Amino acid sequence: MNHILKNKRALITGGSRGIGAAIVKRLASEGADVAFTYTSSPDRANEIVQAAQALGVQALAIQADSADASAVVAAVEETVNKLGSIDILVNNAGVLAIGPIDDFTLADFDRTFAINVRAVFVATQAAVKHMKAGGRIINIGSTNAERMPFPGGGVYAMSKSALQGLVQGLSRDLGPRGITINNVQPGPIATDMNPSEGEFAEMLKKQIAVARYGTVDEVAGLVAYLSRPESGYITGANLMIDGGFSA
Ligand SMILES: NC(=O)c1ccc[n+]([C@@H]2O[C@H](COP(=O)([O-])OP(=O)(O)OC[C@H]3O[C@@H](n4cnc5c(N)ncnc54)[C@H](OP(=O)(O)O)[C@@H]3O)[C@@H](O)[C@H]2O)c1
Repeated sequence: MNHILKNKRALITGGSRGIGAAIVKRLASEGADVAFTYTSSPDRANEIVQAAQALGVQALAIQADSADASAVVAAVEETVNKLGSIDILVNNAGVLAIGPIDDFTLADFDRTFAINVRAVFVATQAAVKHMKAGGRIINIGSTNAERMPFPGGGVYAMSKSALQGLVQGLSRDLGPRGITINNVQPGPIATDMNPSEGEFAEMLKKQIAVARYGTVDEVAGLVAYLSRPESGYITGANLMIDGGFSA
């Protein structure tokens, strides 16, 4: 693999499983030193650290709940202290709470917003204090920001739509500093959050142009592209990677 990200330092939130773990390994395979956060899977986090180190880069796992703003800032500071700085921030950690309007709790509303939206702002604000020209911020949004074809997902969709406004606005702050910020918006991707088998999955597959779930590696490939110097003219963009789900 080409080491195009050598000497870059990346922080990925929620890197112990699913899409985040694939991003950690992909950026490491391109030569970046990697830090990532997790909440409840220390064994999985340790496996990902070892997988990244085996690729010849520095890697560290940081236990930090994205719902806690001070923990998010501390994770950015630990990354800077241990890796030397931060060049790439991938805001991946997210939660999906599905429930009908009559039963949806304010606790689920607040937790969704805190993790899926507020933490993205908090991590970005903390990271850009250290980021130099060439810096990259990439958020994992969702195709549901633009299309939500089943009931019960309104609050999740809202949280991912909020990232669109955030990215568009912040691109104006960060562009003059040579830092890009974009949303990658996946459609259904096979992970613990969204298993690719079962009744719910079959309902979704009928709406996907390519008639299958995506893989975590397909998403990681787009994130890697956005992390590289060659993507410097893409900013403030909402990039679908959804197999035509929203087509
Ligand atoms: N899968 C899909 O179909 C799909 C589609 C569109 C968008 N997305 C988005 O992609 C992102 C990743 O989803 P995924 O499917 O990979 O999810 P996942 O399989 O549930 O993995 C979530 C990862 O985030 C971490 N995490 C969860 N809550 C956290 C918190 N409060 N603070 C810090 N880390 C936390 C988990 O750590 P632990 O291991 O410690 O729990 C885990 O590493 C999310 O933003 C999601 O909304 C997913």
